[in-house]
Amino acid sequence: PSVLILNGPNLNLLGTRQPDVYGATTLADVENMCAAAAEVLGLSIAFEQSNHEGTLIDHIHAAKSSHGGIVLNAGAYTHTSIALMDAIASVELPVVEVHLSNIHARETFRHRSYIAPVALGQICGFGAKGYVLALEVLAERLVST
Ligand code: DQA
Repeated sequence: PSVLILNGPNLNLLGTRQPDVYGATTLADVENMCAAAAEVLGLSIAFEQSNHEGTLIDHIHAAKSSHGGIVLNAGAYTHTSIALMDAIASVELPVVEVHLSNIHARETFRHRSYIAPVALGQICGFGAKGYVLALEVLAERLVST
């Protein structure tokens, strides 16, 4: 099975961006952790990042024909994007929502997720480990695909 790991706006700056909130781990580190976990889990992965809402939507649409599931950290679009929510609902792929930080312990505007209602579930607050947990969840679900 194949999984798309999709990262939204500002996550390209991970490691230097607000390290007090997001830590020193870079997006390349996250990708390496995911690659190592995927090998153990028997998954193949594609790892993408975009700062553009429409590009993220294009990735979700394209995943329908090339992947069995999606790990999605939509960044701040999580809290604003009905379009991303609709894209996920349209492709009917299992999506695990991931956030490095615990969005529920932060500003009120981060408590709302437009991804959560169309996701299998949400993992937040565990840093980069959350991506690995999400891959474990999808590996179990996608055994036969
Ligand atoms: C984030 C949380 C969002 O609120 C924020 O806008 C981000 C990163 C996280 O991984 O903790 O860009 O998705």
